[in-house]
Amino acid sequence: MNSIVLKISNCYKSFCKSSNTVEVLKGVELTIKQGETVMLLGPSGSGKSTVLHVVAGLTPIDKGTIEVCGVNISECTEKQMLRIRRENIGFIFQDFRLLKGLTALENVMVPLFTVGKKYIEAESRSKNLLKMLELDHRMYHYPKHLSGGELQRLGIARALANSPQIILADEPTGNLDQKLAHGITKMLVSLPNKTDTSILMVTHNQQLTQYASRCVELVDGCLKARESCIY
Ligand SMILES: Nc1ncnc2c1ncn2[C@@H]1O[C@H](COP(=O)(O)OP(=O)(O)OP(=O)(O)O)[C@@H](O)[C@H]1O
Ligand SMILES: [Mg+2]
Repeated sequence: MNSIVLKISNCYKSFCKSSNTVEVLKGVELTIKQGETVMLLGPSGSGKSTVLHVVAGLTPIDKGTIEVCGVNISECTEKQMLRIRRENIGFIFQDFRLLKGLTALENVMVPLFTVGKKYIEAESRSKNLLKMLELDHRMYHYPKHLSGGELQRLGIARALANSPQIILADEPTGNLDQKLAHGITKMLVSLPNKTDTSILMVTHNQQLTQYASRCVELVDGCLKARESCIY
C-alpha cells in the first residue's frame, strides 16, 4: 500500500488586513499518497497558494495539523522545518522567486548545496535537469534575461533538484503557452511513475486536469473533491 506523504487535518488560517480578518482556510482536509498527482482548483483569492504555503511551513496555521512525510510540522523547530523543506519538498512558486544574482545553472545548484552535495555532482544534476526542461541553451543566463516561460521552467528545475517526495506547484504553467503548458504538465505528472513523487498542483487551466490522479476544489475555505477532472 502506498504511504501517505501529506495529511492536512481540520486546518484553519485567517489573515488580518487593517481592521478586517479574512478567514481563508476553514477546516481543510486533504490526504495525498505517494505517487499521486492532485490538482487544486478554485477561484482567485480562494486560498490555493495559502494551502501550499502552509504545507511548506512558510505560513503558520491557526488550528489543525499538517503532516509531511509523517512529521507534524506544527511541532517542528525552524531548523527541522528548513530540513523538511530542503529534503522532502520541492516548491514551484507562482512568482518564481529565483536568485537574480545567479545564473540559471547556479539557481538549480543552490538546493543541492543545501543538502551537502559536492560541486561536480550538483553541476551535473543541474545540467541534466535544465536539459530535461529544454533550458540547456540558457544555463549561463541570468533570470532577468529569461522569458516568463523560461523562468517558470527554471523554477521547476530547481524544485526537482533534490528529488523531493512531494512537489508543491503553484500554477507552474501560468506563464506558458498551451502547448508548453501541456508539455510541462505531462513531464511533471510522469515523475511519479519514475520516482514515486507526489504532486499537489494549483491550476486555473481546466484542460490540464486530465493529467491528474484526482482534483480537489477550494470552496468557502474547505476542500471538496471534484467528481470529474475532464471538462
Ligand atoms: N500574507 C498575507 N497577508 C494577508 N492576506 C493574505 C496573505 N496571503 C494571502 N492573503 C489573502 O488570502 C486570500 C487567499 O489568497 P491566496 O493567495 O491563497 O489565493 P489564491 O487562491 O492563490 O489566488 P490566485 O488564484 O489569485 O493566486 C486572499 O484574500 C489574499 O489577499
Ligand atoms: Mg495563488
